[in-house]
Amino acid sequence: MVTLLRVCGIVGYVGHRQALDVVLDGLRRLEYRGYDSAGVAVNAGDALAVERKAGRLANLEARLDEVGREGFAGTTGMGHTRWATHGPPVDRNSHPHSDMTGRVAVVHNGIIENFVALRGELEAVGVEFASDTDTETAAHLVSRAYSGLDDSGTKGDLPASVRAVCRRLEGAFTLVVTHADEPDQVVAARRSSPLVVGLGEGETFVASDVAAFIEHTRDAVELGQDQVVVITRDGYDVTDFHGEPAPVKPFQVTWDLSAAEKGGHEYFMLKEIEEQPEALANTLRGHFTEGRIVLDEQRMSDQDLRDVDKVFVVACGSAYHSGLVAKYAIEHWTRLPVEVELASEFRYRDPVLDRDTLVVAVSQSGETADTLEAVRHAREQKARVLAVCNTNGAQIPRESDAVLYTHAGPEIGVASTKAFLAQIAANYLVGLALAQARGTKYPDEVAREFHELEAMPQAVQQVLGTIDQVRDLGRRLSDSRAVLFLGRHVGFPVALEGALKLKELAYMHAEGFAAGELKHGPIALIEEGLPVVVIMPSPKGRAVLHSKLVSNISEIQARGARTIVIAEEGDETVRPFADELIEVPAVPTLLQPLVSTVPLQVLAAEIARSRGYDVDKPRNLAKSVTVE
Ligand code: M6R
Repeated sequence: MVTLLRVCGIVGYVGHRQALDVVLDGLRRLEYRGYDSAGVAVNAGDALAVERKAGRLANLEARLDEVGREGFAGTTGMGHTRWATHGPPVDRNSHPHSDMTGRVAVVHNGIIENFVALRGELEAVGVEFASDTDTETAAHLVSRAYSGLDDSGTKGDLPASVRAVCRRLEGAFTLVVTHADEPDQVVAARRSSPLVVGLGEGETFVASDVAAFIEHTRDAVELGQDQVVVITRDGYDVTDFHGEPAPVKPFQVTWDLSAAEKGGHEYFMLKEIEEQPEALANTLRGHFTEGRIVLDEQRMSDQDLRDVDKVFVVACGSAYHSGLVAKYAIEHWTRLPVEVELASEFRYRDPVLDRDTLVVAVSQSGETADTLEAVRHAREQKARVLAVCNTNGAQIPRESDAVLYTHAGPEIGVASTKAFLAQIAANYLVGLALAQARGTKYPDEVAREFHELEAMPQAVQQVLGTIDQVRDLGRRLSDSRAVLFLGRHVGFPVALEGALKLKELAYMHAEGFAAGELKHGPIALIEEGLPVVVIMPSPKGRAVLHSKLVSNISEIQARGARTIVIAEEGDETVRPFADELIEVPAVPTLLQPLVSTVPLQVLAAEIARSRGYDVDKPRNLAKSVTVE
């Protein structure tokens, strides 16, 4: 038997429109969460109409056209888009999964960890399985509970049946369940996996992400841990897994449909690159009032911040790189030691944590399993955790002591762009809040740093003027076998980020190095024509950094490298060593990553596009990684 783990998009609907249309539109906006298969179930009168297909949503739509959509008439339904980490993404493993009668259908995000035992138990009473998935156990269990075939005592009561099943499940899951006998309701449940409710006029939605229903409503409700929700046309009802009424958190989505649409752009990533000035401005807005830095949901006192004697930043991928950037600023401003750790490594190496340790958990999605586990580990060790997150009410902020939201808006492209820049800005706000509370910066210095940050949207807007030049370069580099990236100081994490972007989008070998390390090994990689991107520091900042990098460029150029230099406008010293020069505006040294990253994002996207790859949905990846 194959174990399937997944990060998926889920949508459920009860209302006055044709559910198939609503669900397919929702899945289109959730496809960034996984694109290994897609499926729908609609309550079509006295039976469920179910269709599912391996591959992208387009395959499902083609299949629906083949079989005819008229069989899917009905106003209650649900759908799923899947990312599998184990097992073949074939039709039989695609969601929804059904019981043996076909009257129950279930979609699922997460892992039912005890599914082998549950499956054994079900097989022992004659249940036949049609897939390799853990999800199918939930469909059979709900069916048996609803039909009175088990001892749960929930016969004929779908919400009670789902609650009874949830009490038996181990692991993390979001489940959405529909039953042919219950055409007026959809039941959903969550544990450690995202689920939000959308409230429209005479229609209600459930989804993994508000993007699925933002076209219809901005009124949303965030569910808590271990809760079951029943949605009907008229609203929703939430209980815990034992049927007791449970508290929820209503909220208003602050962005609209256009933010989740391409808006005339060729792909989401390009749109999101262009949205970076706005993402930065929105992230900074409101965080400096009456001469002080203020965080969002500050559940830590100034005294708590004063007591901090060490900072860890834990994160993955681009978010980790944002932490590496922030280390330079936070140490400089606060004189506190800052360690930046890959969340996936953090809890396995017994880090030294106590109640005076501040752990900053950075995550766009707020769902990343590695980061969530790092947060849990830190809290178990009594450290205080501050989440930097782009998704309202996601699990990581829910489990943290405080939260600072990045207001980048929805990021649909799998490659992080505007969220990355917003994370840097938010991490800097954390650094300034610490410096302010600890008195390592005078109020006027904090104010000056903040105002410099506030000028960055304008500077990033200016960098966007290089897009055409960089796209042209990308087309010319598209046949390269590999690209190296070099930087020093804050330019080093930018080099890492540039290499990550190229790897994930263009499937090209790319490495980022601290330029000073080159001579300790990587210089052996340099050969005739190898493109090397160099992130130059400002000549007006730390002169020593600049001159050292100029030497590094001349060393690699002498060995045949094709040098692509990102430098401050007017930096004439570097021109003779640059085969290609991309100029960015002059900004203070610590803020340079906010401008120098942008051309690297465009470069990776254009190389990927020229090679014929899907820029928004690179192979093997998904936007949120909710498995360890
Ligand atoms: O949602 P998160 O910020 O926690 O995601 C972390 C990484 O998975 C993410 O940054 C990933 O590396 C991106 N695809 C990079 O572009």
